[in-house]
Amino acid sequence: MRRLRKDRFRPLVRETEIDVKDLICPVFVDETIKVPVKISSMPGCFSFPIDMIADEAGCIADLGIPALILFGVPGEKDETGSHAFGDNDVIQEAVRAIKSETGNDIIIMTDLCLCEYTSHGHCGIVDFETHEILNDPTLDILGKTAVSHARAGADIIAPSGMMDGMVKAIRSGLDDNGFSNTPIMSYAAKYSSAFYGPFREAAKSGFSFGDRASYQMDPANGNEAMREVALDIEEGADIIMVKPAMPYLDIIYRVKKKFKMPTAAYQVSGEYAMIKAAAQNGWIDERKAMMESLISIKRAGADMILTYFAKDAAKILNE
Ligand code: PBG
Repeated sequence: MRRLRKDRFRPLVRETEIDVKDLICPVFVDETIKVPVKISSMPGCFSFPIDMIADEAGCIADLGIPALILFGVPGEKDETGSHAFGDNDVIQEAVRAIKSETGNDIIIMTDLCLCEYTSHGHCGIVDFETHEILNDPTLDILGKTAVSHARAGADIIAPSGMMDGMVKAIRSGLDDNGFSNTPIMSYAAKYSSAFYGPFREAAKSGFSFGDRASYQMDPANGNEAMREVALDIEEGADIIMVKPAMPYLDIIYRVKKKFKMPTAAYQVSGEYAMIKAAAQNGWIDERKAMMESLISIKRAGADMILTYFAKDAAKILNE
């Protein structure tokens, strides 16, 4: 087996390649700030004010990264997340700013969820007596929000709230409003994961009670992920996502093998933070660990990877 492992032969027999074109860069836009703010739990990542978001998008596009995904932090939160869908709310303003600056140079994906917009931090409307997250009343809001994103110029809508029927509600909302060509990338198999911790600092989306286990998946389950994905495809998802990535490589593999759909994997904030923290301590080589993590996600079957390493990885891949 060692004959082909010499540096000269390795490229010839390499089975998996990672390319800049596989990367999707998450971007935080925060209506409450005036200058870029460091996200302390995600070293190297920043939140941007609306009037600087187009420049950031331009930098990402210049690196050859084909897409970004926008997360919004609104100035005001309320019980029903009503600042998620206004024409002049944070995401809608940010999308318009990026579109007018970069045109079609970069694909604008918008994360669609209510948790950044609700005062209680949950991804849906809440019954405060029972502390239940109300699935069906949430769907109307998601549909309305998707339309507002598309109207602002979003290229792909990415619902992440794990409400049952969300893809269907969004698909019909888009179709009824003249956006039948706008694709949906569904966070189809999204686990109730401890690895989202740092994101919640950035998105200011920690929750005031309970957890997300009533709507996000049990990390112990694999067959259930297949059912989630099957449902989302049936409801009209164009791209399906598994999230997180590294602890769920088996799920990525199974999803790709079974459905053969365009498949995305999200290397989440905690996965990023672990590599960064270990590297800062001198315990691992950041550059190598980053590239190894990305190639393993690709090898498992992902066609595209959402990662906070997108810009750093692109620089290496462009060398
Ligand atoms: C919102 C959302 C979350 C993430 C992406 N979209 C957080 C959550 O479900 O709590 C996590 C991303 C990350 O950790 O990088 N629903």
